Amino acid sequence: MSLHRLARISIAAPRTDAVRAFYREFGLAETAPGCFATADGGEQLRIESGPRRTLRELTIGVDDADDLARAASALARLGVAVEPSARAIEAVEPATGVRVRLEIQPRLEQKPPARVALNAPGRADRVNARSRGALSEAPAPPRKLSHVVIGSPDAPASRRFFVDGIGFRVSDEMPGLGASFLRCSTDHHNLLVQPGPVPFLHHTAWEMDDQDAVGRAAAAMVATDPERHVWGFGRHGIGSNYFWYLRDPAGAFAEYTSDLDVITEDEAWKVAASVQVHPLAAWGPPVPKSFLAPDDIAGLARGEA
Ligand SMILES: [Fe+2]
Repeated sequence: MSLHRLARISIAAPRTDAVRAFYREFGLAETAPGCFATADGGEQLRIESGPRRTLRELTIGVDDADDLARAASALARLGVAVEPSARAIEAVEPATGVRVRLEIQPRLEQKPPARVALNAPGRADRVNARSRGALSEAPAPPRKLSHVVIGSPDAPASRRFFVDGIGFRVSDEMPGLGASFLRCSTDHHNLLVQPGPVPFLHHTAWEMDDQDAVGRAAAAMVATDPERHVWGFGRHGIGSNYFWYLRDPAGAFAEYTSDLDVITEDEAWKVAASVQVHPLAAWGPPVPKSFLAPDDIAGLARGEA
């Protein structure tokens, strides 16, 4: 696969001071005003001022100039204008206005965390020692940007742009919601496009070491402000990942996640429809209505911040 990583996003939001403070507390490092880095992925989030929460730009890492040329001709076949430069191409997704940049970048190498020893019936892998998850040290900060989810007023057109133009692979579909789980790396999904009355940012997700890191980081955020809690702790069916969603001050959700499925061969992967996966959650609290249809969407459609 020539696309190899979700490198960076720029989001627009009102009340940027409060939004920036939220993501600092979330565990991202603010390296310059509005620019945030993860532990492994470098600068991955830029927060800009805008009337409502939207995804403005998405940067994807590719291997070489051939990959850029391939995407440029596929986009041209869809009638999309392409802006080339020395090591990148850019194009704007027409339905959402998201600017997509493909850039030649080295592949991301991540150093794995120390293996967690788990005890199970008949198998004691951790003896005479407490679980790391039970100790009170702060969890390691997010390792990388995992995925981003956006609403599109024309989800099929957005899907066409990302799959047939940019070159995303489809890992799973959720026909009831009209949503597609798309990947530009070996992660099960880096992008999900769902229908919405206006383009909006639904959530960003950030990869943590393991489920204890997800639980502890989210619990600390909720202890500071219980109103931030949205949905979790649970495990998704599609993607298999553990999740806990919080609400940022602009109304976008921010997910701590771990243990997402990895797909290295299309032929070996069985789509969710064929293996009876529960689409939303294998387990967890009931999904709140505001997760599927955020409370402020009608207001956003009327142009309110
Ligand atoms: Fe997610």
